Amino acid sequence: MKVNKENAKDRISFLRKEIELHNSLYYVDNKPIITDFEFDLLMQELQALEAKYPEFITDSSPTLKVGSDLSVSGIGKSFKQARHKTPMLSLSNTYNKEELYTFDERLSRLLGKKIEYVCELKIDGSAISLIYNNRNFVRAVTRGDGNVGDDVTANVKCIGSIPSKLPESFFSGEVEIRGEIFMSWDSFDRLNKKKEENEEPLFANPRNAAAGSLKLLDPSLTASRELSAFFYSVSGQGLVFENHVQSLEWARQAGFPVSNHYRLCKSIDEVIEYLDYWDIERKKLKFPTDGVVIKVNEVLLQKNAGYTSKSPRWATAYKFKAEQASTVLKSVDYQVGRTGAITPVANLDPVLLSGSTIRRASLHNEEQIKLLDIHLGDTVYVEKGGEIIPKIVGVDVSKRDQNAQKPLFPVNCPDCNTLLVKEESEAKHYCPNINGCPMQIKGRLLHFCSRKAMNILAGEATIEVMYKKGILNTFPDFFRLTKNDILELDGWKEKSTERFLKSVEASKSVPFERVLYSLGIRHVGETTAKNLAFHFKSIYALSISKKEELLQVADIGETVADSVMNFFADPFNQEIIKLLNSYGVKLESNNSNSILSNKLEGCSLVVSGLFSIPREELKKVIEQHSGKNVTSISGSTSYLIAGDNMGPSKLEKANKLGVKILTENEFFEMIK
Ligand code: IVH
Repeated sequence: MKVNKENAKDRISFLRKEIELHNSLYYVDNKPIITDFEFDLLMQELQALEAKYPEFITDSSPTLKVGSDLSVSGIGKSFKQARHKTPMLSLSNTYNKEELYTFDERLSRLLGKKIEYVCELKIDGSAISLIYNNRNFVRAVTRGDGNVGDDVTANVKCIGSIPSKLPESFFSGEVEIRGEIFMSWDSFDRLNKKKEENEEPLFANPRNAAAGSLKLLDPSLTASRELSAFFYSVSGQGLVFENHVQSLEWARQAGFPVSNHYRLCKSIDEVIEYLDYWDIERKKLKFPTDGVVIKVNEVLLQKNAGYTSKSPRWATAYKFKAEQASTVLKSVDYQVGRTGAITPVANLDPVLLSGSTIRRASLHNEEQIKLLDIHLGDTVYVEKGGEIIPKIVGVDVSKRDQNAQKPLFPVNCPDCNTLLVKEESEAKHYCPNINGCPMQIKGRLLHFCSRKAMNILAGEATIEVMYKKGILNTFPDFFRLTKNDILELDGWKEKSTERFLKSVEASKSVPFERVLYSLGIRHVGETTAKNLAFHFKSIYALSISKKEELLQVADIGETVADSVMNFFADPFNQEIIKLLNSYGVKLESNNSNSILSNKLEGCSLVVSGLFSIPREELKKVIEQHSGKNVTSISGSTSYLIAGDNMGPSKLEKANKLGVKILTENEFFEMIK
């Protein structure tokens, strides 16, 4: 766009709004939709316009402020905020080596001597400030808006590599250590794999995953996220360092993780060597980096160079460009997952990127398609940057055909044609035909068989064939399959059939927590299933639990609790569980016979009639609460639990002997 004096004000205002939007998507939502490079271009354009038209500069311009990670709504509402003693600033940055020579010349002129620099890898995580007093860890605060940050002490305490105490011989005054909390590539892959299995939205990159994990409201959840940290700055009144290297080594001696990859460079040429080396070598690192930070080593020179309102003049960042490729978007498919979630997937003209051919890229949801303003036939940019699924990060609008159409997000399920629904709070559309949509049914069956679930030897093709043949539709069907059923299928021989049936038989010994995971309850992944199994011990106890009790289980919030309640309220699922039980699948923990309470101690109870659960299950509950089951009514019977269709003679006898009669509900109220 050509900017002149007439339209400069509008363009500046547009750029400020755009930058603020992207700052918020990056720092608050952890869901950036443009690349760092594109963001930096917007910022550069705004800086240039403000320099040319200073009459339009205002104090609130994003060129003068650091992007804020302060939680403004939703997820982070309940963090206390804390003020930084000295502001946590940002860094100027460049993608251009030439500009580093200019940076060096300007500083050498300003400071009047040749400068030594320390180069450090720029870790792509979330900035953190730690305060120690009397050698004890007292507080951890995020960068926030640079002046005030979120107090995430409880979460940071869960990061094993951060010392809770400094060694005895160390400085006992107040010390502030700043650094970066990050997630290694391995942990990121593990986390996203779990999310994928649970059909939850994936984190786009380890930075978002680290920042999101740091802002979780439950510290035990943060602990499960395997966060790491590197520290790069130390300050404290009375704590004097001559140079930056000394401060890094102090931090290392004090027990903080400090990266080994920093290097003291005697000249800017050595700095460039370091950049060239790490531009290649960084791909082998176990943690994410997005550039190199170049810092003046001598503390006195740092002081002399000083700061702008936003960043130190004695340091800058050289950023690596993420590897990108451009290709043409041919079409968009809409996949239906096992939970009914609809995911748009882009079909691309094959293109080579970081050593592999990319044909498809996830578009996540309708909102993402709108934000990218994608049209069919567009030339798009794809980026991998180590993430599992390549993503479309932008569009070359100049190459767009005049008649290009936007992809039409389906109104009905692409598989079963049911009208899709979208909750206000969710990013995705869902097919609500849970028990009738073939893709959801097959997806659930596949999940049921997976290694971490029931470990039944059936992959996508087997399930497809059995489903098509009409012999496999729900989980209990696996236990009904006979040798003949299977031998009738194309390609199945005696040996493979036996192996398959053996795996079905073996699945009956799979522990309850894995069975619970196999059921594919929305939002109940491996860890949640474990926690639920540990707390409730049996599917029966879980199925009648009230929301308040569910909310007391580790890492369970409203969404998961609602999902569990909905699952068990569905008569279809109740029937499935009954059948699984009849086939001998483990629906309780091995130690479920252990005593839960002594509310029925000294009581003998008679159970008669039909109940909403098997009678044996009810008898077990009586024992778990220290009661005694007896078969006939006598004067010493404490209670008769009367179910449906109970014979009249038992009722009569109980009345005659003055035995208290309870309905099923009254009984459960009593032991609650
Ligand atoms: S020094 C005044 N060193 O990059 C800011 N920052 O864009 C001094 N970062 O907020 C920061 N690795 O979160 C520094 N080795 C490193 C770094 C690093 C990552 C982050 C940090 C900072 C951001 C600036």
